[in-house]
Amino acid sequence: MPEHAPLRAAIIGTGAIANAHAAALAATPDAELVAVVDRDPAFARAFAERWGDPATFDSLDALLASGTVDVLHVCTPPGVHAEQAIAALDAGLHVVCEKPAALSLDELDAMTDAAARNDRRLAVVFQQRTGSAAAHVRGLLDSGALGRPLVATCQTLWFRDPAYFAVPWRGKWATEGGGPTLGLGIHQIDLLAWLLGDWASVQGQLWRLARETQMEDVSTAVIAFAGGTVASVVTSALSPRETSSIRIDTERATVTVDHLYGHGHEHWRITPAPHVDPDLAAAWALPEVEEASGHDPLVRDIYAALVSGRPLPSTATDAARSFEIVTAIYSSAASGAMVTPDTLRRDLDRLRSLESPITDLRRA
Ligand SMILES: NC(=O)c1ccc[n+]([C@@H]2O[C@H](COP(=O)([O-])OP(=O)(O)OC[C@H]3O[C@@H](n4cnc5c(N)ncnc54)[C@H](O)[C@@H]3O)[C@@H](O)[C@H]2O)c1
Repeated sequence: MPEHAPLRAAIIGTGAIANAHAAALAATPDAELVAVVDRDPAFARAFAERWGDPATFDSLDALLASGTVDVLHVCTPPGVHAEQAIAALDAGLHVVCEKPAALSLDELDAMTDAAARNDRRLAVVFQQRTGSAAAHVRGLLDSGALGRPLVATCQTLWFRDPAYFAVPWRGKWATEGGGPTLGLGIHQIDLLAWLLGDWASVQGQLWRLARETQMEDVSTAVIAFAGGTVASVVTSALSPRETSSIRIDTERATVTVDHLYGHGHEHWRITPAPHVDPDLAAAWALPEVEEASGHDPLVRDIYAALVSGRPLPSTATDAARSFEIVTAIYSSAASGAMVTPDTLRRDLDRLRSLESPITDLRRA
């Protein structure tokens, strides 16, 4: 039994990803799903029937006025994340927000400010940071056991057909905020940055090769990290054999993870360099107890922190770093120049909106 009463949770946006949140809440002793909200009442009712019959509301205002909730899970399309998260934080709720947290860094900054002024927590969902393998590899990198990380590759090679871009909120700057770099690649870019730390510069390009969209369907970028690692990053929505991959070559080993939407130990490999003593390399083995990445461990750890008053886990904080890197890819594509954290903060257009020119290579 938990030492504290469970926190009362609500979900706004009862579409596809809300099911992962409801399942994670059901598995968390520190949480109880008490309400759901959708602008389509039929969606909310059908969802409530599947997930233990919480109360249903057709607007966030009505939910907040009810005073029955401690934590709001924002599972709506990204165009309304900022306004919904800020309203909930100002009403005294904690917020767990799906990626991408917002449409722009300005919006994300406003959400972070709202959390700070209300002394509430804002957790952004990057569930690929979770799992025992990612934690183990981060520990090896942070301790210096693998030596300095030198060169990395980071690939999000996914396939999204024309119908995916035809969904009304997708494929438009105003409602989706960015293309696959923001919507899809941000998971792997975020995991890479969670493993390697602060970024120092980004050069990026945006390409439209095949799909009907206002944005890119492919992007390419080079990220230099402050710790002295250089990474080549490709994000594609056009790749029939799908994979999500990170490779980091350090002074003493190559670390790889090759998966699609989540990873367990079988997806990770640590290969020692030829000069490394096999006994030393044996000590890098993944832990015996395995936990796969996913919403369940993330939500469990967020609620454990909330009920105990501890800071949020590192798997749920620092959402701005990968959002900055993604914004820098758009900023660099617009200017043609290398972008640093300083120059990014001076690109006022890109701080407000990622909208950038795309190099169109489609054939008639
Ligand atoms: N973490 C992940 O792996 C992951 C995976 C898929 C989607 N997502 C993210 O989750 C979010 C939602 O994606 P989805 O695929 O579930 O979308 P979806 O279209 O399936 O569901 C969105 C729901 O929000 C409702 N909605 C829209 N506007 C609303 C409003 N103003 N107020 C209340 N309800 C509203 C819609 O009626 C719909 O039920 C996006 O930000 C997406 O990027 C994350």
